[in-house]
Amino acid sequence: MNNRRNHIPELIFTCPLSYSTAMHIHYDVTQSQFSLQAGNATYALKVSEQGILQHVYWGPQLSTSGTGPSCAPIQERGYTPNLAGAPNGISLDTLPQEFPTYGNSDFREPALEIFQPETGSRILSLRYKSHTISSGKPKLEGLPSTYAEVIEDAETLTILLEDTRLQLQVELHYTVFPKHPIITRSARILNKGKQNLEIRRALSASVDFDAELSDYKFVQLSGAWIRERNAHFSTLRPGVQAISSQRGTSSHQQNPFFALAEKGANETDGSVYAYNLIYSGNFLAQVEQDQFQCVRAQIGINPFDFTWQLKPGSSFQAPEVVMTYAADGLGGMSRAMHRFYRQHLLPIAWRDQPRPILLNNWEATYFDFDAKKIETIAASGAELGVELFVLDDGWFGRRDNDRTSLGDWVVDHNKLPDGLENLAQKVKARGIEFGLWFEPEMVSPDSELYRSHSDWCIHVPDRPRTESRNQLVLDFSRSEVRDAIYARIATILQEVPITYVKWDMNRHLTELGSLRLDATQQQETAHRFVLGLYEIMDRFNQEFPHILFEGCSGGGGRFDPGILAYMPQIWTSDNSDAISRLRIQYGTSLAYPLSTMAAHVSAVPNHQVGRTTPLRTRGHVACTGAFGYELDLGTLTEAEKSEVCSQIEFYKTIRPLLISGDLYRLKSPYESQEAAWMIVSEDRHEALVTHVTVLNEPNAPARRLKLQGLSSEIKYRVRADGDSYTVSGDVLMHQGLFVPQAKTDFESIQWLVQAL
Ligand code: DGJ
Repeated sequence: MNNRRNHIPELIFTCPLSYSTAMHIHYDVTQSQFSLQAGNATYALKVSEQGILQHVYWGPQLSTSGTGPSCAPIQERGYTPNLAGAPNGISLDTLPQEFPTYGNSDFREPALEIFQPETGSRILSLRYKSHTISSGKPKLEGLPSTYAEVIEDAETLTILLEDTRLQLQVELHYTVFPKHPIITRSARILNKGKQNLEIRRALSASVDFDAELSDYKFVQLSGAWIRERNAHFSTLRPGVQAISSQRGTSSHQQNPFFALAEKGANETDGSVYAYNLIYSGNFLAQVEQDQFQCVRAQIGINPFDFTWQLKPGSSFQAPEVVMTYAADGLGGMSRAMHRFYRQHLLPIAWRDQPRPILLNNWEATYFDFDAKKIETIAASGAELGVELFVLDDGWFGRRDNDRTSLGDWVVDHNKLPDGLENLAQKVKARGIEFGLWFEPEMVSPDSELYRSHSDWCIHVPDRPRTESRNQLVLDFSRSEVRDAIYARIATILQEVPITYVKWDMNRHLTELGSLRLDATQQQETAHRFVLGLYEIMDRFNQEFPHILFEGCSGGGGRFDPGILAYMPQIWTSDNSDAISRLRIQYGTSLAYPLSTMAAHVSAVPNHQVGRTTPLRTRGHVACTGAFGYELDLGTLTEAEKSEVCSQIEFYKTIRPLLISGDLYRLKSPYESQEAAWMIVSEDRHEALVTHVTVLNEPNAPARRLKLQGLSSEIKYRVRADGDSYTVSGDVLMHQGLFVPQAKTDFESIQWLVQAL
């Protein structure tokens, strides 16, 4: 395991205001128009004569010569009020904007709402004040963000808007990464005046598209516990369509991702716009189709139950959003996002590292284990080739079930009489690493921690405290609470040779309130909790750069880019059934790289859905993620053990594909009884193709699988099940591979395709 620190450079170099042409951000002074060149896409915005920041264009790359793109001509329309002082026809209700506000002629959903307690007014008029163009990318204060490792990686446009009456300023940051069709946006709100202000809504980005998008599909990743991130498509319609979380985390139910996909767009063709918020708490993602079929797309912190007191001289940073344009369908969108996340989001220390093959004891033992049992399970894993053993929930306090001990991060000597260090050393003596489970944000009412600090949890005085899985949430907005938990866990990480931590989080937030905040600030609690979480995760990363942190929240309840900025992989779902995982992993892959999806082979019948699938299929589905096992390998037959050995050996050979390869989805499990996908190395010399039959069809037609992403010029050797033949890339892509007729349900096949 490596020892590099997780250092993200703070890069910003500000050029003078008059500077007009950076390499990828171009400012046309005559038109007051900005063009951002992001990979093969262009994003353009301009300052209108009235000083409004207008959206102009986002789509395939345009040259910066000539007049550039322009906005739709101004039209006078009935029932659209005039902007005060502007010529007839100029109405904020029809003008495409970049950061709309409420109160003066725009009746659509705003990006920013400010309440002025002194007067009760909510009116806000933002006008352009200045801009800077700089190389590199600034860090966001207190929040995770994508990074530019070297200054040439990115360019940033900062536009300052101001409401002169309130002396409220908004900094809009736009960063382009020239090698990626990606733009990141964020907003910072600054109170430069003398009166207290209250933020009631501060979204991160808002883009006004014209009617061209009115029949696009809204793509979302939705579900529930053990059914996370299923892909859903619905056609845009007049009015507001939204997804959100009010649960305090990004949630199992919705994901802070959405895409707008052209009607008929598929995996290879069609325009797609995607948004992904780098945030792990309550979010809102919405589109609004207005009366003229224009589409406003927005994402940010959920305004529901959120306000923020903006004192004079203070500022508020809204999270960053990653925006992608792809002309080559959903496949192109995903590959662009994956590449970008692999290079500019995942913690640097782990970004390019192969992930260890692990064995986790949760489904093997649940809470029922002792040292001997654990040593035996770990030993069987080591014999078969796993690289890391992970001791899951149940090792601390008196944790024999889920009713007790969270917060008491002290080893249970009843179960592990010789302690954790001794156990870890025994595991290491087998030649494998040792990892440990924690749930740092939680406390059990039945715990020493709660008995001594019953006011440390999120709660509202004089109200019952809702329990979920018999636990309460610690108030991580409070530094003393974070410090105490950090100290307890850090002691263990210092004393025990641990190289992996599974960071779990098994409930949502209720009775939101914090003892340290005054009455006006209570609605800041949910966001402050997330800020506290980021602060403590950052501290762990800094002090323990050699530890691989895996995110988890009852499986995939917090699978978002905010977590990925600290933890390069996340337990994708508590559902480990290979067939359920087809939809979960397929949906997740719309936004997130395969390397970030922890996927384990577990026992059959499966513990979540009762299904029995072949070991081979379980291996095939899990090995296209961060691979591992979650069962007692010692209970397998000799034949199964030998199959596990082969799976592990095989995974080691294809592991680099997971770290840097491109994903092509070939058959969607949402559309038929088949699923197929492939990963192709950057140089197109190697590919792994996986096909799974869900329910077998009697006397089915011959099936072909047309591959993608290979080179027509290259001859490849194709290997599957001991057979091998040579064929050119164009045959594989145009004629495809023949899928053997399945003999039973849940069969799978994998082909390894390698350049000769
Ligand atoms: C939920 C996780 O998703 C599981 O993998 C396991 O770690 C349990 N929590 C332990 O309580």
